[in-house]
Amino acid sequence: MRYQPLPAELYKKNRKKFVAHLKPSSIAVFNSNDIYPISADSTLPFQQHRDIFYLTGVDQEESILLLFPDAPEDKFKEILFLRETNDHIKVWEGEKLTKEKARELTGIQTIFWTHEFENIFKNLMRYAEHIYFNLNEHYRADNPVETREDRFIKWAKQQFPAHKYERSNPILQRLRSIKEPEEISQIQKACDITKAGFIHVLQVMKPGLFEYEIEAEFARAFLRRGSKGFAYTPIIASGANANVLHYIQNDQIIKDGDLVLIDVGAEYGNWSSDLTRTIPANGKFTPRQKEVYNAVLRVKNKAARLLKPGITIPEYHKIVGEYMTEELIKLKLLTLYEVKNQNPEWPAYKKYFMHGTSHHLGLDTHDYGILEEPIQPGMVLTVEPGIYIPEEGFGIRLEDDYVVQEEGEPFNLMADIPIEADEIEELMKK
Ligand code: GLY
Ligand code: MN
Ligand code: MN
Repeated sequence: MRYQPLPAELYKKNRKKFVAHLKPSSIAVFNSNDIYPISADSTLPFQQHRDIFYLTGVDQEESILLLFPDAPEDKFKEILFLRETNDHIKVWEGEKLTKEKARELTGIQTIFWTHEFENIFKNLMRYAEHIYFNLNEHYRADNPVETREDRFIKWAKQQFPAHKYERSNPILQRLRSIKEPEEISQIQKACDITKAGFIHVLQVMKPGLFEYEIEAEFARAFLRRGSKGFAYTPIIASGANANVLHYIQNDQIIKDGDLVLIDVGAEYGNWSSDLTRTIPANGKFTPRQKEVYNAVLRVKNKAARLLKPGITIPEYHKIVGEYMTEELIKLKLLTLYEVKNQNPEWPAYKKYFMHGTSHHLGLDTHDYGILEEPIQPGMVLTVEPGIYIPEEGFGIRLEDDYVVQEEGEPFNLMADIPIEADEIEELMKK
């Protein structure tokens, strides 16, 4: 394993928190992701489903977790099913988890092979009233592909039409949005790897490079530090490309005088980091670029201070919108008249700042969290305001990752990643 796994204690704790929310006499099942096919015998690299990972630490395909707190025998309260390993698999694919190793990793004592699941599940269902299925209910999710979980649900409903069906996902949305200290330390590692990549890029950035050459520098910096790579598709957007919010082509030449918007984060052990910096290709901001840059930076810093227990994300976004409006007036991008006559449903500032300021961060980059509920200590949120000015040929976004504290200001996991314009210029001189 290229990353240091978290201790089994954490996964035990996560399972304990999850089962505390189940109705009496309930079974909950969680499946791994499929390995997605390309064509012929090609596949995409495996990415574990974050929910089974959150509950077990198992980072392997064809694994299933079954939880049944009221099982008739103690040994069936928690069962892990793993793809059977044998000498043939060992030769072709290397070692898979043995039962012994899996016990150590997960803290689960009862382990069977995956092909034994159907029989055991059918047998245990005779003692259960409820079955908890885990659908993807994330507020941004689009579910165009049938997952292993979906196939399981279809099959289980055919087999057991008279059981009561329940939803695991709202429970996980709440649990996963609040991070344990061990989980935060894993996100911190991902942030530190991202930092190393960014510091390196400050040294190599120059006009004439292709955007993908900068992407390559990050990939190298991440891989050599035990990360599998990017936590999400990176954005290296020079000049006006920065005004395309989801620009991922990264195939243009960086020009002298361009700002380069870099939205890049490393993953570490399936935990994400999410950074944005915007830097001058030639090492020096123009006065106008710096003016807009500092406006974005002020909004970012003021917005972060709002991330205290009690506020909801919609309330927070409203206040950040007011901060941004003030800055856009100072930058002469908006007039007082426009602001006074704005449509409250689509305030004037959205012409230059059209996306949200924050999202939860964790095992998914846009992590679980119920946005309408007040934020709580232990939540990790990005803060990422931007000002995009197509008519001036550039866009600026700055993004750091913060942990909400019991009291006081949130803790910035990226506090030591250079962000002041002068510091960026200084570092690029070297
Ligand atoms: N890089 C994705 C985001 O900032 O939300
Ligand atoms: Mn980002
Ligand atoms: Mn983000």
